[in-house]
Amino acid sequence: MKNLCLAALASVSLAALAACADQGGGESKAACAAAAGEVNVYSSRHYDTDLALYEEFTCETGIKVNRIEAEADALLERISAEGEFSPADLFITVDAGRLWRAEEAGVLAPVDSPVLAERIPASLRDPQNRWFGLTTRARIIIYNKAKGAPTGLETYEDLAKPEFKGRICMRSSSSIYNIALLASMIAHDGEAKAGEWAKGVVANFKRAPQGNDMSNIEAVAAGECDISLVNTYYLARFDTPEKRAVLDGIGVIFPNQATTGTHVNLSGAGVVKTAPNRENAVKFLEYLTSESAQKYLANGNNEYPAAKGLAPTSAVEALGQFKADPLPAAEIGRNQARAVELYNAAGWN
Ligand SMILES: [Fe+2]
Repeated sequence: MKNLCLAALASVSLAALAACADQGGGESKAACAAAAGEVNVYSSRHYDTDLALYEEFTCETGIKVNRIEAEADALLERISAEGEFSPADLFITVDAGRLWRAEEAGVLAPVDSPVLAERIPASLRDPQNRWFGLTTRARIIIYNKAKGAPTGLETYEDLAKPEFKGRICMRSSSSIYNIALLASMIAHDGEAKAGEWAKGVVANFKRAPQGNDMSNIEAVAAGECDISLVNTYYLARFDTPEKRAVLDGIGVIFPNQATTGTHVNLSGAGVVKTAPNRENAVKFLEYLTSESAQKYLANGNNEYPAAKGLAPTSAVEALGQFKADPLPAAEIGRNQARAVELYNAAGWN
């Protein structure tokens, strides 16, 4: 599978290429794994493109990447259960809330890296550098284009206005995306207003919360309801010849452009406190913020690269430019438990 290794090397250095090619008859991706140690990655991301970038890292550094993939909470439990003998070096997950949970559980250790500090904006990393954002996604309002842009709908807060009664479809409040959004609104508007907002949106539901972002996009495109909230990367998934009609039936509003900015969430990673290969973990984390790795991470799932100065895919760019909410992701994590309580009190199932 030497070719696999080479195929993964769209943009690595000639030296690294030579390192791969020098393996001669090497028959597996281990062909790129020279004896430079290893790094054990516990990840709740599982995209094929992520595999390609792991391999590129091995080719560049000779450090073998061992992966354990599971849901974030299961991985966290596992790291805690393994205790000081955990082989985990790096924890990768999606959502600020989960990174915050890992941080609160005392699982992550600070990383003092000038490379990471330079590449990742302060709002997308833990103030104590225990985790770093890798990609971001925006939660935006969509509407049925045939019925026209809803008048007076410019912010998340507007979704609670009585004039949108019977027009809104949402997924469950147990979605980490909805929890993170309300957590950000608690930070901006205060608990009381955030709670009232949840009640107002519930009063506007066309139907009980159901499905996921994809099915709610389809529901809005089909006119089953007029308005919903979805993550940008799900919309980009409809940018194909077969699914294009759905995308064409949808209008997009980046909320809160005149106020706090559109809510963004992130995927990110942190070095585990008990990491047996800490140096390699830091190296790998730094690599994940490089231009080449950021392309794998962001493009593979139509997300925005977290590192400064990099553009997303054209399908994502086509959704439009916007002002992102600079609220520190750490604050979103901190407010998430309260957000769940407010959703429950509002009857948003
Ligand atoms: Fe998702």
